[in-house]
Amino acid sequence: MPTSSPHPSLGFGLGVRPTHYDALLGERRGSVSWLEALTENYLLPGGKPLHYLERLRADYPIVLHGVSLSIGSTDPLNETYLREVKALADRVEPAWVSDHLCWTGVDGVNLHDLMPMPFTETALRHVVSRIAAVQERLGRRLVLENVSSYVSFSRCDMTEWEFLREIAERADCHLLLDVNNVYVSSVNHGFDPLAYLRGIPVERVQQFHLAGHRNMGNYLIDTHDEPVCEAVWQLFHAAVERFGALSTMIERDDNIPELDELLAELDRARDITTSAQRAKSAA
Ligand SMILES: [Fe+2]
Repeated sequence: MPTSSPHPSLGFGLGVRPTHYDALLGERRGSVSWLEALTENYLLPGGKPLHYLERLRADYPIVLHGVSLSIGSTDPLNETYLREVKALADRVEPAWVSDHLCWTGVDGVNLHDLMPMPFTETALRHVVSRIAAVQERLGRRLVLENVSSYVSFSRCDMTEWEFLREIAERADCHLLLDVNNVYVSSVNHGFDPLAYLRGIPVERVQQFHLAGHRNMGNYLIDTHDEPVCEAVWQLFHAAVERFGALSTMIERDDNIPELDELLAELDRARDITTSAQRAKSAA
């Protein structure tokens, strides 16, 4: 297992989607510094998706980002899935492999959603032991992302950020801080997103996600189908002031615009990063 220091920043990237394959390999080659690929789209050891991923890999650093690990579930780990992820990782040599701190099903039923954890000591110990098993299977340190949530458990021993901190430190894993998810959950549950950022250990955060959400009036849904909103850009500024200039990327999964529109959003992330770093060094 490599050292526990996070990977050096890859700069500014995008979640790669098939609609942008040709542009990223052609007229917009090199327009981003790295790409995050959705693990589950490339698990078949052949075919068109993997063909494109390998072509992209020749031009860009790649990070693998999964949604099926279900690290928080009480079901046994899916060994077939873990073998497939390991085979893919051995093949494309990603800078790192990430998934979500959540559960996606129980008793063999897949809910096809990223469900929040109960923030209890029991759940903490359970997840930490499973992270150790996954890191051993993959031969890599895992990077786990905070999810957006809409409900919470009636009994919690700690806040979400305390839970994340304990997970990262006890399991010796890294964190993917989704700034939009922090914001969405802060509105839905009524907590201070800045307190969340202050509670996350700086040395554990490896990557930022930025994304858009939908405002439903009295709650927010993490839809990834709109541009990043002003409140999330402001929170991103605060995140860079605390955690520094980390690998940063934008996720867009629906209502996907032309690549140039996402590149313009990425320019804004660059500008905010520069301004936050200036603010930090002036403080
Ligand atoms: Fe995310």
